[in-house]
Amino acid sequence: MNKTLTGIKPTGEFHLGNYVTLNAAQNATYLVADLHALNALPFEKVTEYRTDLIKALNALGYSPIVVQSETPKIMELYTYLLPLVSEGVLHRMHAYKASDGTPNMGLVTYPVLMTADIMASGCTHVAVGEDQIQHLELARDLVAKYNSHYKTSFAIPEAQIVSSTLVGTDGRKMSKSYGNTLPLFAPEAVIRKKIKLIKMDSRAPSEEKPDAEENIAYQILKAISPSVAADTITPLKEGRMGYGELKTVLTNTFFDLFGNARKIYGTT
Ligand code: TRP
Repeated sequence: MNKTLTGIKPTGEFHLGNYVTLNAAQNATYLVADLHALNALPFEKVTEYRTDLIKALNALGYSPIVVQSETPKIMELYTYLLPLVSEGVLHRMHAYKASDGTPNMGLVTYPVLMTADIMASGCTHVAVGEDQIQHLELARDLVAKYNSHYKTSFAIPEAQIVSSTLVGTDGRKMSKSYGNTLPLFAPEAVIRKKIKLIKMDSRAPSEEKPDAEENIAYQILKAISPSVAADTITPLKEGRMGYGELKTVLTNTFFDLFGNARKIYGTT
């Protein structure tokens, strides 16, 4: 049977965009990629976010969870992979090109560590966003090279592309760097306020809104509950529902969906 690996770096507060990405993978193993996070953040921060992320994954019922830094096999495979990789190839990678021009060696070799993650997991498939396709191509090449060099038979991983583009509260991609996320485990008042502040237009509830699919609150609702979103679309279009009411639906759906996980997490 297919087994899918999905990885997440503990680089910030766990938010709805992370949830949507993780939730797209079926029969998955959940990797906490804390060594990857060290390329970008101080150790203390990584430690803090790792604890939160593990707590979040447990509260949401995701298992099994693999913590990268607690998996010596990953470090071992990484070391054996390095001689098979040329520096030039790594310089053409997205991880390197997207950096500020003075990347540390961890960032340069990031796709190699990611390959080791995949090999150690025993997974056949890897759930990745579009920005990771290139890294996965490299991983496939490297696993083949590894097999022929070390006479092993690791599975060549297949990509399972998941959409990584949930819209954020300001209409841009939901991302902690934009400050437009809905953090899953923030206090209730914070979530309510963030939903309230989602950008809207000034049309009256009774106006027809043929473009309602483009509304930010609608898109977020659709990502977390397609069925509830489906119930709102006709009333919105026909002018029987306003965007204020839609936000109430979104707020209620959010707490319905995550109330239990939030209780386990211990949020207020
Ligand atoms: N590189 C992924 C990202 O930035 C995270 C990641 C690390 C990962 N190791 C992985 C994803 C292994 C899938 C499999 O989003």
